[in-house]
Amino acid sequence: MERWSLGAKVVALALLLSAASHGRELPVKSSDRSFIYNHTLAKTLVEYASAVYMTDLTALFTWTCSRCNDLTQVRDHQGFEMRSLIVDVENCLQAFVGVDHSLNSIIVAIRGTQENSVQNWIKDLIWKQLDLSYPNMPNAKVHSGFFSSYNNTILRLAITSAVHKARKSYGDINVIVTGHSMGGAMASFCALDLANISP
Ligand SMILES: *[C@@H]1O[C@H](CO)[C@@H](O)[C@H](O)[C@H]1NC(C)=O
Ligand SMILES: *[C@@H]1O[C@H](CO)[C@@H](O)[C@H](O)[C@H]1NC(C)=O
Repeated sequence: MERWSLGAKVVALALLLSAASHGRELPVKSSDRSFIYNHTLAKTLVEYASAVYMTDLTALFTWTCSRCNDLTQVRDHQGFEMRSLIVDVENCLQAFVGVDHSLNSIIVAIRGTQENSVQNWIKDLIWKQLDLSYPNMPNAKVHSGFFSSYNNTILRLAITSAVHKARKSYGDINVIVTGHSMGGAMASFCALDLANISP
């Protein structure tokens, strides 16, 4: 518990919605995962990456925020289901995990640098000095500031456990991780992490 204990400094809002009560069959794992560029999909993911910057947490959680529309809005009950909103006030980090039912995918969105966050700017600047080896990846070097923002804060545990829970409800569906700027860097660590989680 040491590393992940939520000291008084970290405020974590783990607003987990209980899984929909009407049971769904676990979908069979689809094997044809194509990586062909799809502009609509890319735009949808940019909209998720943009929504995670919203500061009105109630509007974000209920998916009624001003950026929670267009491609990510709920259409015919086929839209976005927020599962977990993760806020680390001390480190100025924000992320959410939900399920996009149109895409049949779990969405993880991680916020990037906040203009007025001194902590974030420091993390951005650390990279030149302290590149570190990525665990279990010989010769791979990562930006230590971004990596510690992901690894040494509530983000890593909160995101992976929310993804686990969503997979318990919906089976082994795809997980899409998105983020802009520093959020994109952390999204890469997160994607690598989740790729190593057995469903
Ligand atoms: C692109 O992705 C959207 C979902 O965002 C999907 O509805 C559409 O069929 C996809 N297009 C192609 C050509 O795969
Ligand atoms: C990442 O987090 C783990 C678990 O808390 C910790 O043991 C490890 O030292 C961290 N890695 C880095 C490079 O900070």
